Amino acid sequence: MMTQDLPGQPDLAYRGHELFLEDVRLRDLAKQHGTPLFVYSKAAMLSALGAYQRGFAGRKVQICYAMKANPALGVIQVFAQAGCGFDIVSGGEMDRVLAAGGQAGKIIFSGVGKTRAEMKRALNLGIACFNVESEAELEVLSEVAVSMGLRAPVSIRVNPNVDPKTHPYISTGLKDSKFGVAHERVVPTYQRATGLPGIRVVGIDCHIGSQITQEGPYLDAVERMLDLVEAIEAAGIAIAHIDFGGGLGINYQGDTPPAAEQLWQKLLALLDARGFGQRQLMIEPGRSLVGNAGVCLTEVLYLKPGVQKNFCIVDAAMNDLPRPAMYQAYHQIVPLQANDQAESNWEVVGPICESGDWIGHDRTLAVQAGDLLAVLSAGAYCMSMASNYNSRGRAPEVLVHGDQSHLIRRRESIADQMQGESLL
Ligand code: LLP
Repeated sequence: MMTQDLPGQPDLAYRGHELFLEDVRLRDLAKQHGTPLFVYSKAAMLSALGAYQRGFAGRKVQICYAMKANPALGVIQVFAQAGCGFDIVSGGEMDRVLAAGGQAGKIIFSGVGKTRAEMKRALNLGIACFNVESEAELEVLSEVAVSMGLRAPVSIRVNPNVDPKTHPYISTGLKDSKFGVAHERVVPTYQRATGLPGIRVVGIDCHIGSQITQEGPYLDAVERMLDLVEAIEAAGIAIAHIDFGGGLGINYQGDTPPAAEQLWQKLLALLDARGFGQRQLMIEPGRSLVGNAGVCLTEVLYLKPGVQKNFCIVDAAMNDLPRPAMYQAYHQIVPLQANDQAESNWEVVGPICESGDWIGHDRTLAVQAGDLLAVLSAGAYCMSMASNYNSRGRAPEVLVHGDQSHLIRRRESIADQMQGESLL
């Protein structure tokens, strides 16, 4: 029997021939709910969170789950109940946190393009902090707050100009990026902020990129942030909290990111050495909390062997799993039932009418039409980036815990999709 190594997903394992997530046989869920289907493990999410909690033991920290990675209400609820705050980037994300039982007072609001309406709503709710990304945004936020008789709690997002050594689309802390305030403009921006009637400076933040697999960029970013805090405080402006963003990578394909616990112990030693170890800290992890907690189940519709390439056509597509098409990302693909049949090499592709609709290139699999496959590491930035392209309904989501499974989002119907549209 052939079973493959399942890197990074601790709660996913073959028992005999059958693939289980925690104590749930995935084939049963595929039969019950149909495919494509996303399945997430609550234990895997909590164990990923636990690694951060151990790393920060004895420190003042607020872990704010960057919910853009996976904004399902059932997922937000798991992190809210575990004490997390949330990093949001839109009014819609704010409403999701509240609907799932999260606290407004633990929300931090990032993003380069916050609207006045979003600012107003966040001020009304009393969120913890606006992570402001430009001087223009600072002015508008002050105006909105003054009109409400309030002062907005603000952190300035710093662009530390550190290379995270990841895919260019997910590098955010380099000089040419649209994010944050340039290093040399940071102190003047804080000075300007303290002069604005609707602003109350509470912190400083950065986020250098995503799927970071080395510790070097974090060490550099921490050093640069602390240099800035010293310079800002030397100018007489107190910084209550320091937020180091998210970005820690996961193992998709033999990637070896540092464990959250070890990385933070090392970074905290650096903070201690510079006298910042007892500061209030914040972090904004997304992918590393959920990415390896989820899989996407899909059925093989047709095999189409060819002269140059063999195509394995599955019922999941780039609208469900956009990362391969967008970032040439690798997601491992394994059978739900291991078998002893002969393997061949396949281009695993979806039904969408684009050549870019591929899930995996040149994968060695023993497959037949009707077989079920799991696309791994699908807990982050898959459903959250899913679309209705080709008028495909978005897939349902199931959360498993122990031997229990809960449907946390039903399959989107064509009626759901057309709701809100009208004929001329
Ligand atoms: N904080 C801020 C301000 C962010 O922009 C992001 C992600 C995070 C935190 C969380 O980063 P994480 O820990 O998840 O790396 N769609 C891409 C990833 C985009 C990340 C955008 N910002 C992908 O599928 O790889």
